[in-house]
Amino acid sequence: MKKFYVTTPIYYPNDKPHVGTAYTTTLADIFARFFKLYGYETYFLTGTDEHGKKLELEARKKGVSPKEFVDAMVLHFKYPWKKLKINYDRFIRTTDKDHEEVVKEILMKVYEKGEIYKGKYEGWYCVRCERYFSEDDLIKEGDRFLCPIHKREVTWLSIDAYFFKLSKYKDKILELLQNEEFLPYHREEMINRVKKGLKDLCISRPKKQLSWGIELPFDKEHVAYVWFDALLNYVSGVGYKNDKEKFSKFWPPDLQLIGKDIVWFHSVIWPAMLMAANLPLPKTILAHGFLTVEGEKISKSLGNVYYPEEIVERYGVDALRYYYVREISLGSDGDFSVKKLIERYNNELAKDYGNLVNRVIKLSLRFGRVEKEIDEEVKNYFDGLIDQVYSLLRKYKINEVVNKIVEAVHYLNSYINSKEPWKNKENKIYYSMLEGLRIINLLFSPILVEGSEKVKEGLNCKESKLKFGEVNKYEVKEIPIIYNKIEEFVKKRKEREKANFDDFKKIKIKVGKVIEVKRINEKLLHLKVSFGKEIKNCVAGIGKFYNEKELLNRKFVFVTNLIPKKICNVESEVMILAASDDKVSLITVDKDIEEGSIVT
Ligand code: MSP
Repeated sequence: MKKFYVTTPIYYPNDKPHVGTAYTTTLADIFARFFKLYGYETYFLTGTDEHGKKLELEARKKGVSPKEFVDAMVLHFKYPWKKLKINYDRFIRTTDKDHEEVVKEILMKVYEKGEIYKGKYEGWYCVRCERYFSEDDLIKEGDRFLCPIHKREVTWLSIDAYFFKLSKYKDKILELLQNEEFLPYHREEMINRVKKGLKDLCISRPKKQLSWGIELPFDKEHVAYVWFDALLNYVSGVGYKNDKEKFSKFWPPDLQLIGKDIVWFHSVIWPAMLMAANLPLPKTILAHGFLTVEGEKISKSLGNVYYPEEIVERYGVDALRYYYVREISLGSDGDFSVKKLIERYNNELAKDYGNLVNRVIKLSLRFGRVEKEIDEEVKNYFDGLIDQVYSLLRKYKINEVVNKIVEAVHYLNSYINSKEPWKNKENKIYYSMLEGLRIINLLFSPILVEGSEKVKEGLNCKESKLKFGEVNKYEVKEIPIIYNKIEEFVKKRKEREKANFDDFKKIKIKVGKVIEVKRINEKLLHLKVSFGKEIKNCVAGIGKFYNEKELLNRKFVFVTNLIPKKICNVESEVMILAASDDKVSLITVDKDIEEGSIVT
């Protein structure tokens, strides 16, 4: 039997997963279910990365031990995964006994081969990333250096440490990176970085600095660097130590899904570690982009964090799973928006697919028992579809897979329209549309985990073979509507978008005269504006369209009672009004009028 081993990164359990982190896990689940559908024996591993400074500090802040802290946090992962119907085979924790033993065993093996040595490590370290940065990668702010990811100050560290001879693998890694199948996205970027040089990797921290980690088997004063520990979860999680049979069946991973921020660790360090440990390499490391929420970076301080379990509660698990593979293009950055999720759900699941299901079941209920009788044209279409989906799947082109299934929904709808089974009560038409629906439903089942169960009930047929013409007879059952349109939210949102007169009255708009202009940068101008009795600051993004001189001493229209906002160190108190298409035109008054006049 063919096998498929898929992994996700293991998450730092310092916070709950949000819709961005849940994207990777859902993708992995969808791939595992698809491969299972196509007859593969699958193994799906996910889990948590529980060692390191960051977690130690987080636990200390809460006044508990690191182990108590991670034990509690893990539940915040398992719960949303359950709500999202994530069907993992193992949830690995790097504090699991077997994992700790595997890390020690592999470290020992590589050490005995002479590929780990003791030296001194000095460099800029970011506690949040748990890693060192070269000076080139850091952001310079005055005499401080900031981490390029967290924008926090990094610290200079000099310590006794063990090194893994990563540099030795430069040519082999470069050769590996030539293979597009190994790294479909970010390959050129990695090749260029490796070509610039590959330094040996520091793989330990002195216990004095970090106690929350796995002890090195050859020096009890040091613990393993989190990434060396974490990456090996992919080895221990599939039975390297405790289940040799499972390990030899599934190793190496077929697909390792990761986010674009951790490509270096997975496509350079990870294969070198495996080469050193004499283990076969993963077939594909697939890095997806980052998700924003309505165009903004997902962040607690912006208050735009959506949690997957909340979305599932409100709109159902299928809505979110479908959104991930329909709206977000795998490999590119994507956006999560509740509005778009509802649109997709309403138009494509409730309307197109829901109506098809409803139609086929209702018509067949009236027709009665349907015997096997194939319309060759329909069979040819679905045979082709099953093959095309398979070849796209093997290239991990999940968006194209979904396109194909959606196309099949339209195909079957037009088949029904053209054959008019309500008039032509021919068994062959009925059988072909029911078999077509069964195949579509099977192909949708890795994504639409709840809806597909309901459709299966309606078809009243257990056959799960992905082949057209497998069922001998149909006697369908009545089922409730599978996807009810989400009306509520759309109506409320429209109401919220309307302003009443009182809302408008709240906004104070006045005529102001520009008495001073300074350029902040290419985009921004700092204006001082007189409103007669008072002078206010305005930072306006009009620098590309106006120069300083043409604004001076002219009167424009400003909103004057907004809450002030600091922009580039200037407290902007008023907002200039402008009309824009691809140009910008400022709003002015058509007769000369006193500064400070109110606009109503
Ligand atoms: N613990 C390491 C991974 C070790 S794997 C051996 C780690 N953990 S993490 O919790 O910080 O991130 C886990 C994954 O979540 C990464 O793949 C990261 O890219 C992904 N994401 C975090 N924020 C994300 C978005 N906003 N959008 C999509 N993925 C995001 O790194």
